[in-house]
Amino acid sequence: MTKKGCIKISHLTWGGVDCQELAQRFGTPLYVFDAGIIRSRCRELRETFLERWPNTRVRYAGKAFLIRAMAKLIQDEGLGLDVVSLGELHTALSAGFPPERIEMNGNAKSRAEIEAAVKSGVGRIIVDHPDEIRTIDEFAGQAGIVQKVMIRVAPGVDAHTHKYIATGSTDSKFGVPADSREGSMLTEAIKFARECEHVDRRGLHFHVGSQLFDTDDYTKSIDVILRLMKDLKASLNFTTYELNMGGGFGAVINPAIPAMKSEYYTDAMMKALIDGCKSYGLEVPRAILEPGRWIISESGITLYTVENVRELPEVTYIAVDGGMADNPRVALYQAEYNAVKVDDADGEIYHPSNGGKVSIVGKCCESGDILIDDAEIQAVKAGDVIALYNTGAYTFSMSSNYNCLMRPAVVFVEDGKARVVAERQTLDDIVRGQVL
Ligand code: LLP
Repeated sequence: MTKKGCIKISHLTWGGVDCQELAQRFGTPLYVFDAGIIRSRCRELRETFLERWPNTRVRYAGKAFLIRAMAKLIQDEGLGLDVVSLGELHTALSAGFPPERIEMNGNAKSRAEIEAAVKSGVGRIIVDHPDEIRTIDEFAGQAGIVQKVMIRVAPGVDAHTHKYIATGSTDSKFGVPADSREGSMLTEAIKFARECEHVDRRGLHFHVGSQLFDTDDYTKSIDVILRLMKDLKASLNFTTYELNMGGGFGAVINPAIPAMKSEYYTDAMMKALIDGCKSYGLEVPRAILEPGRWIISESGITLYTVENVRELPEVTYIAVDGGMADNPRVALYQAEYNAVKVDDADGEIYHPSNGGKVSIVGKCCESGDILIDDAEIQAVKAGDVIALYNTGAYTFSMSSNYNCLMRPAVVFVEDGKARVVAERQTLDDIVRGQVL
């Protein structure tokens, strides 16, 4: 809080740093992450999952947000990492991340990706298509190692979420259907892997979807998988030593509403797993989680400068200096966010006198470039700085150079200090590699 004359003005601070100052110092748009919040999420997972249940692992899903500083933070917090491309693998390895704590996912892995994963010594490769097994065996043979793999299955559960981020149905492009019948893709893959000298089948993987708030999506999937495990044990003597239950824990959009605690999910999942194993007569496998969004979303805000305000009869547009290039999630999934004017964070919400709504829009050349369709925000004018909350997940990682906009910088804040962990792109970056 600062006092100006007799008017009390409250400034938004993030990680103990004044957001108005952050905007002045580093420019906008700006991705700002409170590293303390990320650490506390990691700690919560350690306490409510890793330390509460024996034989468990957590692999942060790097697709939600991965830069070298993030890989380092995850390493310091003692978690592992899930990567899905050569680029993510390189980011992690170049930050010194221990390869044995990395697993590689991906529904269309290239030979180059499989080779790099095997030869760098990643802990697990999650086989998404049976053809990968031959390639893994080939490269592991060349490296003189045995590569541990898991097989991804689609449990046939339609998760309660946006259809673009539901991944567990039987017709999903990910994994193989959870089908234990003779001749199925799954049983053929298991049999083939058994013949491969350089492949060690550790177990199964599923990921039913993202942004889940309903534990039923998990418990139903776990039941399907346990029945599958029992059938595979009986028909092929295949033991699931490890079960990766994916990510998907939901993140809230309103900063006033606390996030779901991790144990809301993990207690339900572990109960389903342990009780289910008991009733199906199975050994409890090692349980692995792969959360991305839940770890990173709420630590992140994006700062924008207002370029202009356009009052129309039905809607007042607040146009800012970023948009769908730094956050395509609204255009893609109709994601919802909340915003605040950073130097008047507790100020009254503006209601246009004509009764219309307020929309916060970006600067890209598309009408769909909306950040908040129906916003509740204080009155703003050109030059003011606003913050969008809970933008940590899938924003930087999905950003583009649309309209030749430069990718914003990333700043980590913690204990009142700020440091740039990814520089803002320059005009040179925009034309890099292009020839006349
Ligand atoms: N594991 C696998 C195999 C996944 O496919 C995903 C997400 C995760 C873990 C992490 O899920 P999370 O805990 O973050 O929900 N771009 C979309 C989200 C796509 C998620 C893709 N897979 C969005 O912005 O909402």
